[in-house]
Amino acid sequence: MQIGIIGAGTMGAGIAQVAAQNNEKVFLIDVNPEVLRKASTNLKVTLEKLVAKEKLTKERADEIFSNITFSSDFSVLKPVDLVIEAIVEKLEIKHKVFEQLEGIVSADCVLASNTSSIPIASIGSVLKNPSRIIGIHFFNPAPLMPLVEIIPAVQTDSIIVQKVEQIIGSWGKYACICKDTPGFIVNRVARPFYGEALRIYEEGIADFATIDWAMTHFGGFKMGPFTLMDYIGNDVNYAVTESVFAAFYYDPRFKPSFTQKRHMEAGFYGRKSGRGYYNYAEDVELPAPNQDEVLGQKIFNRIIVMLINEAFDALFMQVASKEAIDIAMMKGVNYPKGLLAWAEELGLPWVLEQLEVLFDEYGEDRYRPNPLLKRMVKK
Ligand SMILES: NC(=O)c1ccc[n+]([C@@H]2O[C@H](COP(=O)([O-])OP(=O)(O)OC[C@H]3O[C@@H](n4cnc5c(N)ncnc54)[C@H](O)[C@@H]3O)[C@@H](O)[C@H]2O)c1
Repeated sequence: MQIGIIGAGTMGAGIAQVAAQNNEKVFLIDVNPEVLRKASTNLKVTLEKLVAKEKLTKERADEIFSNITFSSDFSVLKPVDLVIEAIVEKLEIKHKVFEQLEGIVSADCVLASNTSSIPIASIGSVLKNPSRIIGIHFFNPAPLMPLVEIIPAVQTDSIIVQKVEQIIGSWGKYACICKDTPGFIVNRVARPFYGEALRIYEEGIADFATIDWAMTHFGGFKMGPFTLMDYIGNDVNYAVTESVFAAFYYDPRFKPSFTQKRHMEAGFYGRKSGRGYYNYAEDVELPAPNQDEVLGQKIFNRIIVMLINEAFDALFMQVASKEAIDIAMMKGVNYPKGLLAWAEELGLPWVLEQLEVLFDEYGEDRYRPNPLLKRMVKK
């Protein structure tokens, strides 16, 4: 098949590598020739490393590299079967690109966006044939992360969904179909991992290191929330939270945190700026957590039930199937278990009770237990 990818930045270059490794003929387009040069050099280096590690033969690496054409000329996209757009997260710019594309590609070419936060319905609204628009949401780094969320818009033809599911599956990825709702599955369900951790810190219950320890020690998460936010970047993570909050008509469940905003405003982005919640300077030791088991368990319980509540809400609002919601969190953000399966393990009545205690104590809508969880406990 022939695949067009627009935007050769972090995501576009990664997606191009995935497609090329799966023997697709790829056209990687960017308006900035410097970005294209960088993408080409980086891919060469990545493939050389894989050859050095004996994961690929030199011939295979050359073949993968030659599957990609790097270009600034949109007209090379004429023969492609699928275009995945991965340019800046700005609706007006995406609209211009899709309008331009429709004048170049064939009538049956599928048009997809890798957007994280813009509704697919809105991206597709400028197309003459919007039934071929779809969201194909990869995770960073695309060659390593096994999850891809597939998001049909209200305009999308069901044949397109099947076609895309088949292509993504053939690239060895887990394709999870989800509704065109803010944050899709992962960026919605994961919000309390950050938000509740920040709230616990703001209430003075524990410091960053202790909250991180509680989640890795009791939950088996690979990284605690503050380490993870520092890794993602507080600028990026805050922007996602703010956009999900606004997109949900300011539902208090998704309320951003002043602590994170101040860190972002101060330029404490995390690892990339040398300082976030932690100081990453070489001569500075990371703070030690307070390994009080009772406190740690309390922190873990509060964050896990908020995550489970959000997973239940995604299921309740039919964002995706139960299986897809669990797979998405394991394959998209490396959670040790799917949240709905985890809920069963912890016991649904126990989860509900924890939420009811929080809701009762705070009286805040943020802690309201999900109706589906309540119904299941009643049953
Ligand atoms: N970075 C992530 O972790 C991540 C994860 C999933 C999805 N996304 C989404 O993927 C998309 C791209 O994100 P990114 O992080 O790769 O961005 P990026 O800034 O690394 O790359 C975007 C590229 O698009 C190019 N570009 C801008 N306008 C263009 C145009 N009109 N035509 C062609 N190229 C153009 C830019 O030159 C740039 O190289 C966004 O929609 C983002 O929301 C990002």
